[in-house]
Amino acid sequence: MHKPVLLKEVIFYLDPKPNENFVDATFGLGGHSFEILKYILPDGKILALEWDPYLVEIYKKSYMKHKNIILKNENFKNIKKVVREEKFTNIKGVIFDLGISMWHYKNSKRGFSFNENSFLDMRINPFDVKITAFEVVNYFSKEKLENILKTYGEEKYASKIAEEIVKRRKIKKIETAKELSELIVRVVPRRKKIHPATKTFMALRSYINNELENLEIGLEDAYEILKKGGRIVVITFQGLEDKVVKKVFKKLKSKGAKILTKKVVRPSESEKLENPSARSAKLRAILKNEQE
Ligand SMILES: C[S@@+](CC[C@H](N)C(=O)[O-])C[C@H]1O[C@@H](n2cnc3c(N)ncnc32)[C@H](O)[C@@H]1O
Repeated sequence: MHKPVLLKEVIFYLDPKPNENFVDATFGLGGHSFEILKYILPDGKILALEWDPYLVEIYKKSYMKHKNIILKNENFKNIKKVVREEKFTNIKGVIFDLGISMWHYKNSKRGFSFNENSFLDMRINPFDVKITAFEVVNYFSKEKLENILKTYGEEKYASKIAEEIVKRRKIKKIETAKELSELIVRVVPRRKKIHPATKTFMALRSYINNELENLEIGLEDAYEILKKGGRIVVITFQGLEDKVVKKVFKKLKSKGAKILTKKVVRPSESEKLENPSARSAKLRAILKNEQE
């Protein structure tokens, strides 16, 4: 079973009580939603958004289905529209647990994992996103590739990697995640426990799915739909996302919001040991001022 990250801390900052309503902007396999649900019964509801249509299908077929959870196959950048359409009101909190889920790495076969022999796809929603990682890697110019790796992955070996990609693809197209990660391993030195292809994979995924732009829109609009005294909790897994969160929170603070996490919240040592994928998680929370 998938382990939701920073679960206790999410509950602490969202502070769910019986009969309150919440939005889960990134439902995944529902780990956070199912925990929130325990606190808001009997009449509290969760409006859950999940951009990946296949995950939505899995939930709809599963025994975990629950009448208090309304799951929509939507991008959280449309949070305002979905809330309006569903006539969902009195929202006490919104949770964003960013990135992709374990299911994506292990089961989706879309080339998110380094050692996968699957096609280099990387679209979170293959119906909405028009471009695949395969197209970026095999058809973009060296300059554009280098720029993507720098801008969306802060990869300091961007130039070397882009050069190697262009050299290789002249011989044979780079079709799978494994081919791409093996090529990167050859040109990038190993950094402690981090796989040399980490930043490249992150940059490609973020670029093709527009992750940073979606986050900025989603966060700003989430604040608008909250009731007074409502909260937003965000969990990020990479520095550029955390930068967006800090930027939006700063703007909201200037409008009267209260930042609940003066210092960013990180997983405990025991959580990191138990769930290594929580290692890089950072949590920030904000409160909508009662006076607004
Ligand atoms: C880290 S997982 C969430 C895991 C979830 N909290 C749980 O405990 O099962 C992030 C999820 O957000 C989804 N996602 C990514 N970008 C999204 C977006 N813009 N709108 C809605 N869902 C998105 C991904 O498909 C993924 O399932």
